[in-house]
Amino acid sequence: MTPQKEAVITVDGASGTGKGTVSQLLAKRLRWKLLDSGALYRVLALAAQKHSVALDNEKALNVLAEHLDVQFIAQENNLTRIILEGEDVTEIIRTEKIGNAASIVAALPAVRAALLSRQRAFRDKPGLVADGRDMGTVVFPDAELKIFLQATPEERAMRRYNQLKERGISVTLGDLIEELRERDKRDQERIVAPLKPAEDAICIDTNHLTIEQVVERILFEIKRKKAFPATLHLEINPILVEAAE
Ligand code: C5P
Repeated sequence: MTPQKEAVITVDGASGTGKGTVSQLLAKRLRWKLLDSGALYRVLALAAQKHSVALDNEKALNVLAEHLDVQFIAQENNLTRIILEGEDVTEIIRTEKIGNAASIVAALPAVRAALLSRQRAFRDKPGLVADGRDMGTVVFPDAELKIFLQATPEERAMRRYNQLKERGISVTLGDLIEELRERDKRDQERIVAPLKPAEDAICIDTNHLTIEQVVERILFEIKRKKAFPATLHLEINPILVEAAE
């Protein structure tokens, strides 16, 4: 008999759909593990920069990805510190520049293949919330619940704009929309694991929803599925769910 695999919920979507925050909150509510797969591609892009590897050198990037010395250390406050070669890179990898570089290396088939088993190794008790672009289609095709978050480029750029403004970083909305479109195009048109909903994914339009409404809606789907016995006790706010349906 093959051993029972741990439960997985996948949350995929384009940049700025809120999937990172939603996944973090979901993992916290469920007390499950979290995989931020985008962070792996960001760390690889940073490692490439550090070791002067060109972003189109697929062979060297494959070697770098296979030997990537990275640790994800879960903190008490539910945040994860990311350590690359002994250095804390949690904040550095969040810049737009690294995000763009990540999407360039992520389009290379040898890079994606090298990072596959690393991502699957996050599957652990009592369950995993996996956040990314291809979690439901490629990395965990057998996930019990697959969510795909959507929002227009304008709305996603606006969210990003507000986030950056809060951090005192000045950018123009027009530039952000342009960058997002470029990144979307690269993510959607690449040959391997393009950004798209799995056939059995539940798509949620987040344009007019708050993060809390999206989380509540997903918790509602979790309960409705009855696939995760350990989550049946979860309290759900029906008002938030109704707004998100
Ligand atoms: O989600 P995040 O913005 O951190 O991801 C950075 C980049 O990594 C994305 O633009 C995308 O190109 C790539 N990525 C990917 N597959 C994933 C997660 C991220 O290709 N599962």
